[in-house]
Amino acid sequence: MNKIAGKIAGNEGSLSASHAIANSRQNTRQHLLATCGKKEDNFCPQCSTRCFTPDYLCGVQHLADMKVTYYGHSCFLVETGGKRLLFDPFLTGNPLASSIDANAIRCDYIFVTHSHQDHIGDLETVAANNPNALIVGIWEVSAYYSAKGLRTHPMNKGGWWTFDFGRVKMVQAVHSSVFPDGMPAGEPAGYVLDTADGVLYVAGDTALTLDMQLIPMTCRALDAAILPIGSNFTMDYHDACIAAEFIRCERIIGCHYDTFGFIKIDHDAAKKAFADKGKELILMQIGQPIEI
Ligand code: NI
Ligand code: MN
Repeated sequence: MNKIAGKIAGNEGSLSASHAIANSRQNTRQHLLATCGKKEDNFCPQCSTRCFTPDYLCGVQHLADMKVTYYGHSCFLVETGGKRLLFDPFLTGNPLASSIDANAIRCDYIFVTHSHQDHIGDLETVAANNPNALIVGIWEVSAYYSAKGLRTHPMNKGGWWTFDFGRVKMVQAVHSSVFPDGMPAGEPAGYVLDTADGVLYVAGDTALTLDMQLIPMTCRALDAAILPIGSNFTMDYHDACIAAEFIRCERIIGCHYDTFGFIKIDHDAAKKAFADKGKELILMQIGQPIEI
């Protein structure tokens, strides 16, 4: 449990704020652990709400921290269980990410939330440089890259799969999806990573949706979540605050903002909106890692 001691490198939150958030995260975790398990009724004696955390998810201790590196827009590298997971590779089309060399990226997995250009722009470059990398996406995305001879693992919404770094659930996202060449791409999706190093929700491009409430009902307590906050194409940061409540997560990493004119945001106003609700919004520096 020592990972919840508020270890944050490279974000702009104060240490005391981090501590308060770490404590509330611990409380959430302890609440979930204390009220699920083998109890007969599964109701919390403190707040009378029902705990849905499944028995088999209880009591799992964290071994280390997940390391998350931001490559701009919605592109992140997550390091966990000794593996490198790249999400939504889009670098060369993003002037804000000009310091990141797509050809230098090394990864074991490429996760695709959906197939718009700003999420897969550099996927084939990265895949060519990492021939053993496994591309994970919804069935149609997997089929598209399989047909190009790449290694893929298909999923669909609601399903879990156990990879060599941990378990992954594909979850709902409310958005659209098609490949830039017009090929169908199924539907957009998000992912919950449940590893020995922590639990992380990567929402992908999505509107605020009530389906987010299903995540804490079906997954272990989140350590952090990556949510879009830029509006116009996705939810804005006000809706993302509500999303953070739906998923019962105090620590949010923002994405899908500032890259183009449609999605420029006021950083201070966005952080204040979260702080006003007792939550933390982390706006990461491109190329800089944090531990969650
Ligand atoms: Ni999109
Ligand atoms: Mn997008």
